[in-house]
Amino acid sequence: MAETQSQGTPTLFSPYKMGNFNLSHRVVLAPLTRCRALNGIPGSALAEYYAQRSTPGGLLISEGAVVSDTAAGFPHVPGIYKEEQVEAWKKIVDAVHAKGSIFFCQLWHVGRASSSVYQPGGAAPISSSNKPISNRWRNLMPDGSHGIYPKPRALEVPEIHEVVEHFREAALNAIRAGFDGVEIHGAHGYLIDQFLKDGINDRTDEYGGSLANRCRFLMQIVQAVAEAIGADRVAVRLSPAIDHLDAIDSNPLELGLAVTERLNKLQLQLGSKLAYIHVTRPRYFAHKQTEQGKQSSEDEEAYFLRTLKRSYQGTFMSTGGFTRELGMQAVAEGDADLVSYGRLFISNPDLALRFKVNAPLNKYIRKTFYTQDPVVGYTDYPFLVAQSRL
Ligand SMILES: Cc1cc2nc3c(=O)[nH]c(=O)nc-3n(C[C@H](O)[C@H](O)[C@H](O)COP(=O)(O)O)c2cc1C
Repeated sequence: MAETQSQGTPTLFSPYKMGNFNLSHRVVLAPLTRCRALNGIPGSALAEYYAQRSTPGGLLISEGAVVSDTAAGFPHVPGIYKEEQVEAWKKIVDAVHAKGSIFFCQLWHVGRASSSVYQPGGAAPISSSNKPISNRWRNLMPDGSHGIYPKPRALEVPEIHEVVEHFREAALNAIRAGFDGVEIHGAHGYLIDQFLKDGINDRTDEYGGSLANRCRFLMQIVQAVAEAIGADRVAVRLSPAIDHLDAIDSNPLELGLAVTERLNKLQLQLGSKLAYIHVTRPRYFAHKQTEQGKQSSEDEEAYFLRTLKRSYQGTFMSTGGFTRELGMQAVAEGDADLVSYGRLFISNPDLALRFKVNAPLNKYIRKTFYTQDPVVGYTDYPFLVAQSRL
């Protein structure tokens, strides 16, 4: 079944049918943690921020919303596990829907990428393993300082089942809040990735060792969530080739293919495709502003993504270091159906419009990425139209 509605070579502005959702363009807001949900409750600042980035028929993915009281590892990230949080999200979802956008909620558990200050009773964070994240990485603390990641505690098997249940409940909560779907965060060295990657997962039970065992936790979550809210409302984020927070795998392509193969089978079993998979490119560097991260060769990267894209039977979203031109190229060459933008969307609330008319872009200011001011560095980046009136 052809998913593309437009004729000819698709561009970022060709409509796209993603299952039951009709997208008017392919410039997606990537999930972006912004630390503005004071004490875990998303408030009016978030409503304004997401509404600013909404376009009729556009797709937005929320920042990671934590699925339980052990799931946070950053200050002031929103939750989606308490009634008060569900009620608060309703207002934000309404603001986005009023602008005509489709809104997915990213479900997040950071696992060992946390600190005792974010854990109930000051306990150790949980993971697949007892191994801590190395000193190469630093944890953002509530006072804005950077701490060392503590030693985590490897989950017992019954506790793993409880976490699966937390994801399921969080997905139901997201739907109750009005979200159109959920994206399960299986990327970037957080809890699910801590099971997927053999550089972290040192378990000897049915959740460690073989690829089948390392994929088990992710697959149980996807299945539980899909059965609860419908496969067509469920998306999965993956980053097999990203080593963020020491999430190294000895064979990223093989791991990626193991996941896509299992997702394909699950889709057949459920009789419905997932909404999309969202894969972070190995390259996390672009926009003429350098960020820390791994760079790989163009060829290596193109081969990796193309192979994954071709192996997955459904909508494929790519992210990481895309410019307008690179996004256009990925869509035209069939390497991505949708492209998500992170840093450029932080500083350009009207990114889709700017791309459409090929307008200059505002530069992002990194130092306000994770601060708490409800306006500065959050909702005060100028719009093109307002700028041209100046
Ligand atoms: C400030 C910031 C916060 C982020 N938060 C999340 C997050 O909550 N969940 C997630 O999956 N990725 C997160 N990411 C990664 C982005 O979704 C995106 O993949 C990344 O920024 C690369 O895309 P870009 O080059 O367009 O910025 C974050 C990135 C940044 C810069």
